[in-house]
Amino acid sequence: MLDALPESVSLYEVAPRDGLQNEASQVATHAKVRLIEALVDAGLRRVEVTSFVSPKWVPQMADADQVCQMLERKPGVTYSALVPNARGLRRALAGKLDEVAVFVSASETHNRKNVNKTIARTLKAFEGVIGPAIEAGLRVRGYVSTLWGCPYEGEVDPEAGLRIAEELLGRGCYQVSLGDTIGVGTPLQTRRILEHFLERIPPERLALHLHDTRGTALANMLVGLELGIRDFDAAVAGLGGCPYAPGAAGNLATEDLAYTLAGMGIATGVDLERVWQAGQVAEAIVGRKLPGKVHQAGVRSLAR
Ligand code: HMG
Ligand code: MG
Repeated sequence: MLDALPESVSLYEVAPRDGLQNEASQVATHAKVRLIEALVDAGLRRVEVTSFVSPKWVPQMADADQVCQMLERKPGVTYSALVPNARGLRRALAGKLDEVAVFVSASETHNRKNVNKTIARTLKAFEGVIGPAIEAGLRVRGYVSTLWGCPYEGEVDPEAGLRIAEELLGRGCYQVSLGDTIGVGTPLQTRRILEHFLERIPPERLALHLHDTRGTALANMLVGLELGIRDFDAAVAGLGGCPYAPGAAGNLATEDLAYTLAGMGIATGVDLERVWQAGQVAEAIVGRKLPGKVHQAGVRSLAR
């Protein structure tokens, strides 16, 4: 296993969007900006900074326009945001982002609960996003959610998810990130899902977006690495999950991912000490303990 390790992989940081979108109390815009800047200072070069969704659906992201206005940009960094429709794209263009991400679930019920549409209508709405975004010079990323399991339907047919991913790539997305949205995945399941996808999509066009609800995200990431995936989503300190839903958790923690890869001699471009400090910023702005393991253990012990 893992005998052909890459020299480097690309991390895609989602804490400011996926991590914060479930926070019950409103996080101040300047605090969000401080977190994004700390992540960039730590070496992260792709950051999903916010989402241009309906503020009625996700009140925490209501200040997306202000986040973009306040954010000082650094060269070499791709600033991205989630966009569900043409209105979201207009806001993203006004916010001068480099990239937008469209999202759709592989299971109908989760998709309807998330965006109030069938999968087919969601993909139709992307006609107002993907093409126009590319024409405006932006890159477009896609997400396919609930591939490892749906909170409403249980098991999900990977073929249904694969067809959606192919459609997103065919329409111009440069990459599709495969989501274990509720963090139920286990390694052999991950192998089965990925092998199915890799029959028709090359690994460089796929990313993994693993929530760590049950502590299996790192193990699943390693399966992806072994199968040639080189792009991984992560949230600093494991930020995310709903404070009112016991057991819910955020994405694979950026520090845990970077620490594990560093130990395997795989570069991520991230300075571990500084990303750990960004995790302290995240913890301070949400005002509660965050679950990331390296976040809790610290990085100094690396010197041993
Ligand atoms: P809807 O209610 O069906 O649509 O929502 P609508 O067009 O009737 O819009 C409702 C209201 O929102 C209207 O305002 C619109 O103007 C407004 P009103 O007239 O009532 O005052 N609106 C907007 N406002 C600002 N920006 C916009 C926008 N669009 C409409 N872009 C809609 C449909 C898609 C808008 C809604 O369902 C929505 O915003 N959903 C977003 C849900 C969401 O953000 N979920 C979390 C992100 S997905 C995720 O976390 C998974 C992921 O991490 C991957 C993984 O883990 O697997 C990506
Ligand atoms: Mg997510």
